[in-house]
Amino acid sequence: MKSIKNLKNIKDKKILVRVDFNVPIKNKKVLDDFRIKKALPTIKFLQKKGAKVILISHLGKEGTESMKPVALCLKKYIKKNITLLENIRKYPGEEKNDPKFAKELAETGDIYVNEAFSVSHREHASVVGIPKYLPSYAGFQFEEEVKNLSNVVKNSKHPFLFILGGAKFSTKIPLIKKYIKLADYVFVGGAILNDFLKAKGYEIGKSLVDNSDYDISSILKDKKLILPVDVIVKSGNILVNKKIEEVDKNEIILDIGKESIKLVEEYIKKSKLILWNGPLGKYEDGGDVGTKKILKAIANSKAESIIGGGDIVSVISKLKLEKKFSFVSTGGGATLDYLANGTLPGIKALE
Ligand code: ADP
Ligand code: 3PG
Ligand code: MG
Repeated sequence: MKSIKNLKNIKDKKILVRVDFNVPIKNKKVLDDFRIKKALPTIKFLQKKGAKVILISHLGKEGTESMKPVALCLKKYIKKNITLLENIRKYPGEEKNDPKFAKELAETGDIYVNEAFSVSHREHASVVGIPKYLPSYAGFQFEEEVKNLSNVVKNSKHPFLFILGGAKFSTKIPLIKKYIKLADYVFVGGAILNDFLKAKGYEIGKSLVDNSDYDISSILKDKKLILPVDVIVKSGNILVNKKIEEVDKNEIILDIGKESIKLVEEYIKKSKLILWNGPLGKYEDGGDVGTKKILKAIANSKAESIIGGGDIVSVISKLKLEKKFSFVSTGGGATLDYLANGTLPGIKALE
């Protein structure tokens, strides 16, 4: 990968910078700007050299959300003129990686920079398509991610605890099959847990599930898999701590329960390497206790710790714990994919 450090004579050049400003939004406001802040050194470096920066990002899954809250947030940090394109997933060519669309995008710039490590596991036009047509470089945070994560790949320590939460079942489940081999313990929480409980035949009420027909039966049988023993459910308007087998058909699982937190804490004490992606509960909606307690337990442990994902970093920022972990990655699915496979489509596209 070529570094932007080596870019020369870029005055007035139009530089397309793929960033990942897919940040948590609530009531049209940016809840946390960790990912935005991490892209600032690259943006400011290019602007200082006189380049015209055009930012490309997506927001949310479907491309229906407007980038406006992100633009307002960016204004706080960038005082010079800058272009931020509307949500790139609005255009069907992005996710289909349509070569015509990638070429059209490429024609609006002179140089391409990928500063979106966290979306580089996706073969989308703005990640792998544009670099086919333009001289292409990696941004500073992108390089930082690869440098830190490749060290983990080289010196993986044991016992290795892998914690998986969040919601992106179809992205993450294929990876869990790899991690069940690589890690010594695999703990599952978040909305992904609901699919596991459902597959095991438990009542999960009105909890969020993915319902994809991905076969997890071999994972369920694996002795390395650790599932919570209790959960916090929303029952009417109140939150109740219940054993897994006590969830009622009208309830919604929001978080892991007290006993499960203790259980994970025991594994944290035993581990030398901890990798964690995805919040363990619906943290925006009262289900944040498990995630916060486990973050604090890891912050106080001596284990090497890598934590990443757009949503979980917002909890880390709130608790001001960033410096307590070995590495906080902007990537969720991308980080897991990179650690399991040693590369990503977005990295290959820059080589
Ligand atoms: P990350 O951004 O850290 O990689 P994901 O994007 O995969 O994580 O998932 C984050 C989302 O998962 C959050 O919006 C959170 O509310 C949701 N989530 C976690 N646990 C639950 C749950 N039990 N029920 C509903 N949503 C959940
Ligand atoms: C995506 O949409 O895949 C990226 O923005 C990564 O987001 P995540 O951390 O929520 O997986
Ligand atoms: Mg997320």
